[in-house]
Amino acid sequence: MTDRYAVIGRPINHTKSPLIHGLFAEACGQRIEYTAIEGSLEDFKGDVQRFREQGGLGMNVTAPFKLQAFELANSASERARLARAANALKFVEGRVEAENFDGIGLLRDIQHNLGQPLAGRRVLLLGAGGAARGALLPFLDANPARLVIANRDLDKARRLLADAGRRDVEVLGYPQLQGQSFDIVVNATSASLSAELPPITADVFGNARLAYELAYGKGLTPFLRLAQGSGVTNLADGVGMLVEQAAEAFFWWRGMRPQTRPVIDRLTIPLV
Ligand code: ATR
Repeated sequence: MTDRYAVIGRPINHTKSPLIHGLFAEACGQRIEYTAIEGSLEDFKGDVQRFREQGGLGMNVTAPFKLQAFELANSASERARLARAANALKFVEGRVEAENFDGIGLLRDIQHNLGQPLAGRRVLLLGAGGAARGALLPFLDANPARLVIANRDLDKARRLLADAGRRDVEVLGYPQLQGQSFDIVVNATSASLSAELPPITADVFGNARLAYELAYGKGLTPFLRLAQGSGVTNLADGVGMLVEQAAEAFFWWRGMRPQTRPVIDRLTIPLV
């Protein structure tokens, strides 16, 4: 029987995961079946259980089920525990293991694909929700000179640091960013989903090398437009992160690391 995997979310019709994993499997000479499942809001656990009973070996999980996926797992990696969210599950002998590859996928895209190491750089992370939670530990492991988290709700950002047990990160409100500049600015807020700009000014871009928008496929968001207008030449959306986190999951499930560049090239929608 072909090994089965799936992505589960709601809505799920725009997912690129079956395409990405299909390309990985082809390139690695692996025979797998990877489908998309529209999860039910009332019975996510039942959906996962049914997939397991049908021989499923692993799942990717996307909105709005990442938290529930984490909660139903029997064990979780440290980064999944900090994010309190899972974007990948593995079914091993009656147990469910949870992982969260979003943050390391993002870091790998920034450092490896975009050629911007975080080490020694001033890094600004906008947002303190699930996406920022996933990015925090991988970012810290990369040794930035300064890591600042900015959020409207400061308590939420402070809770994130307390949960991570880290004091070496600064939490600032947006007004406190006035006059401060960074080398790398990452938008991990959900503002772009409603075509809004987080309340930053052009100051933060100073002579920034990279502006990274996590929302994929939204074109030049207000955040990227502001960065572009401020002279930032390296603008990225989340396509590389999407493919890199998928590659991590593929490796976790199959023990083989696929090349990501051809898949990123295939999925890239030019920003301008
Ligand atoms: P996700 O899991 O996708 O990150 P979330 O947990 O709801 O979603 O978090 C959304 C993040 O986007 C939060 O950091 C939120 O800021 P607040 O905590 O201050 O509300 C941020 N956000 C959403 N819309 C925003 C906007 N228009 N400007 C700035 N931040 C915004």
